[in-house]
Amino acid sequence: MINVAIVGFGYWGPNLVRNFSSIPDVQVKKVVDLREERLKVVAQNYPNTEVSTNIDDLWTDTSIDAVVIATPVFTHFPLAKKALLAGKHVLLEKPMTDTVDHALELIELSQKLGKVLMVDHTFLYTPAVQKMKDLITSGQVGKVKYFDSTRINLGLIQQDVNVLWDLAPHDISILDYLVNDEPVSVNATGVSHIHNGVENIAYLTVNYSSNILAHFNCSWSSPVKIRMMLVGGDEKMIVFNDMEPTEKIRVYDTAHSVSSDEDRRRVLVDYRVGDVYIPKLGSAEALSGMARDFIAAVTTGSTPIASWKSGLNTIRILEASQKSIKSGGVEIKIQNV
Ligand SMILES: NC(=O)c1ccc[n+]([C@@H]2O[C@H](COP(=O)([O-])OP(=O)(O)OC[C@H]3O[C@@H](n4cnc5c(N)ncnc54)[C@H](O)[C@@H]3O)[C@@H](O)[C@H]2O)c1
Repeated sequence: MINVAIVGFGYWGPNLVRNFSSIPDVQVKKVVDLREERLKVVAQNYPNTEVSTNIDDLWTDTSIDAVVIATPVFTHFPLAKKALLAGKHVLLEKPMTDTVDHALELIELSQKLGKVLMVDHTFLYTPAVQKMKDLITSGQVGKVKYFDSTRINLGLIQQDVNVLWDLAPHDISILDYLVNDEPVSVNATGVSHIHNGVENIAYLTVNYSSNILAHFNCSWSSPVKIRMMLVGGDEKMIVFNDMEPTEKIRVYDTAHSVSSDEDRRRVLVDYRVGDVYIPKLGSAEALSGMARDFIAAVTTGSTPIASWKSGLNTIRILEASQKSIKSGGVEIKIQNV
């Protein structure tokens, strides 16, 4: 039996409690939140789960094997550090930490202590992203050349992080998972229409070492909800529309080829209409897959899909994007680690 404690029972915490509770041989032993009213909800729905407002109880409770942290971003680093030092495996909500240095410190600590450190990049476990990964690794898409994602709607305005830190971890981690390429630099712009100066609309461009160009459009201020991603390769382009109930993925034949006309020293583009393929997707709940991946890492030592590396690569891009936004959109090199 693996005993798990979940810290933070706000908007996302209940989804984690529900999914971890449904895994055989896993018990959600304790839920910690600073707000009594949230703990009353836990007590009503999970009578066998202990509740507490005192986080320090956790560090001395030797029956707890793993801690899941679903609190605001600025608390991830101090809570995860305490959990690791108390000998617990740690699952952190996205984004992993508020700085690259904090992520590196946690990674070093988890390795030294031999504990799992994982990040909940939920989307990596969706049937749609798994299908995209299959299509790319099997070579059907060809060499990936561009990536374009739009994630906009009327969102919960966060107080401590801007819209990129809140929404882009989903898309950045998906691209990191799909192409396994090294990001080199970013340009980002953003605007705050809120009194606290936190950007509610932002555009991020990332240049990768193998010449992939990626663009991310994130907004909390759009009355229209769009969750759309394009991945273009030289054979196929994948369109992932998460607003579609079932046909979330469409695969298009790449609709142009470029031929070099040596004689006239110019490039000719030949447009054509190709076929469209709509693969069948499974219906597994992504968060359940993520929770099971974490438990497998704890019990078997396997490397999870959303490993600390995925978390770190995402933070490297976010930190550089923050610098770029504050410098008027100039190109910022991504910190090597
Ligand atoms: N994976 C996903 O798709 C997904 C979706 C939403 C949110 N999240 C992430 O989950 C985290 C929490 O987001 P949320 O929307 O649930 O926030 P929230 O504000 O709704 O909930 C956070 C909860 O943590 C509690 N809390 C704060 N500090 C605490 C502390 N020191 N000890 C114990 N409890 C504390 C608060 O009382 C609150 O109930 C964030 O990192 C967010 O990015 C992930």
